[in-house]
Amino acid sequence: MPSNFFPRLPSLLSNAFLAILLIAYTPSIFLVEAKNVGGFTVDLIHREYSPKSPFHNPQLTRFERQKNAFQRSLVRVNHFASTNVFPNGGEYLMKISYGTPPVDTLAILDTGSDLTWTQCQYCTNCYKERSRPFDPRSSSTFKFVLCDTKTCNSFPKTKCAPITKFCLYSEVYGDQSYTRGDLATETITLSGTKQGNTSFPNFAFGCGHDNGGIFPFEGSGLVGFGFGNLSLVTQLSSSIGGKFSYCLGPSTEASKPGKLNLGNSVSGVGVVSTPLFLGSYYTLTLQAISIDNIRLIYPIFSSTNNIIIDSGTTYTFLPTRLYEAFVFTVKQKINSDKTVPDPQNIFSLCYPSLDGLRIPSIAMHFKGAHLKLLNPINTFVSTSNSSVCLAFVPTDDVNILGNVQQTNFWVGYDLTNKIVSFKPADCTAA
Ligand SMILES: *[C@@H]1O[C@H](CO)[C@@H](O)[C@H](O)[C@H]1NC(C)=O
Ligand SMILES: *[C@@H]1O[C@H](CO)[C@@H](O)[C@H](O)[C@H]1NC(C)=O
Ligand SMILES: *[C@@H]1O[C@H](CO)[C@@H](O)[C@H](O)[C@H]1NC(C)=O
Repeated sequence: MPSNFFPRLPSLLSNAFLAILLIAYTPSIFLVEAKNVGGFTVDLIHREYSPKSPFHNPQLTRFERQKNAFQRSLVRVNHFASTNVFPNGGEYLMKISYGTPPVDTLAILDTGSDLTWTQCQYCTNCYKERSRPFDPRSSSTFKFVLCDTKTCNSFPKTKCAPITKFCLYSEVYGDQSYTRGDLATETITLSGTKQGNTSFPNFAFGCGHDNGGIFPFEGSGLVGFGFGNLSLVTQLSSSIGGKFSYCLGPSTEASKPGKLNLGNSVSGVGVVSTPLFLGSYYTLTLQAISIDNIRLIYPIFSSTNNIIIDSGTTYTFLPTRLYEAFVFTVKQKINSDKTVPDPQNIFSLCYPSLDGLRIPSIAMHFKGAHLKLLNPINTFVSTSNSSVCLAFVPTDDVNILGNVQQTNFWVGYDLTNKIVSFKPADCTAA
């Protein structure tokens, strides 16, 4: 079972969504609109939710940073074009170095959370990782963040250590993995693919002494690409202007990294764009899903901001009844009775292999952006030697566009103009 089958989103907000879901519970009708074949209608439970979580400030609040320090980064970032992104069992890792002198580590690229953190010595509880946890004592630029400072107050989940007055943080993710430790500042270094390395001093991060749950052995911690106060995107905003983009290579090509670009969204021929909503997470408006000429219509499609886009979640989560109709329709289109059960028991439509099967064209229609998925790279996933499964899963919680469905697209975020753009690409190309 992939380590991150459960979305790794901070769990407080997940629960908030769930609470709103339950409140907004109303029965409704599910429609399948068919152009050439006969359509059908079934009853469903309409689960609409407001993305406006009461726990969250919907405004993009800018972290008041040490301006002078980042002014230097602003000059330097022009040298920083892009860095490599490595697939790792359904998650994507990027290189980030901490300290002076810099110590390299790999960390999960996560648009679903804010805090950047790494495992730190001494560990009261660290999960097993390939390299050694970062040792702040061997860095000349490490500083603890103290309580009652702007930085400490800018992260919602902090408390004060009674004697030292160090700012302690804790973060729990949706899959119950967690990190706890000292909030600190440090010089981080990102290594560019062509232009060399760029350092950012006084970067606020979590020095995690107590970290648990399922995290990749290859890496240490994660890099938060959310839009909250402490996210990398916010802390580096004077350098990158609220723009970043990634191109994730297929997880089957682990040796060929994809790319992450800071300071640029996506442009050029073949780009489609859709409004981005900064609610509790990055959310988009999904208006329909189509399978060849069949367009699935579902009540949530009439509301805006109905699906989270996340780099840290593997598969796409759709409301259960929509998912069922989707699977039904894809299966009907493939028209083969040679289905097999999924040995991992996650997916409901699997074939021994896709050889000789005609896979229908599947598109996700976001507002203003019709995203034609690439077959089979965005639609099917191998779960064993003898099973290939439709890579979507049902949910009664939040809807998420996962990273399998974003593979081999440049996905660009422009937080200033609030749009997300997609452009098909070979992300493993040099
Ligand atoms: C952002 O930081 C400010 C203080 O710098 C704080 O007042 C505010 O609550 C923070 N926002 C969130 C969502 O934590
Ligand atoms: C860039 O950083 C890497 C470590 O991430 C290091 O191995 C390399 O020597 C650095 N390159 C330059 C030009 O400083
Ligand atoms: C899967 O295939 C590999 C080689 O392709 C083989 O070594 C392995 O035994 C196979 N596993 C199963 C469960 O068939």
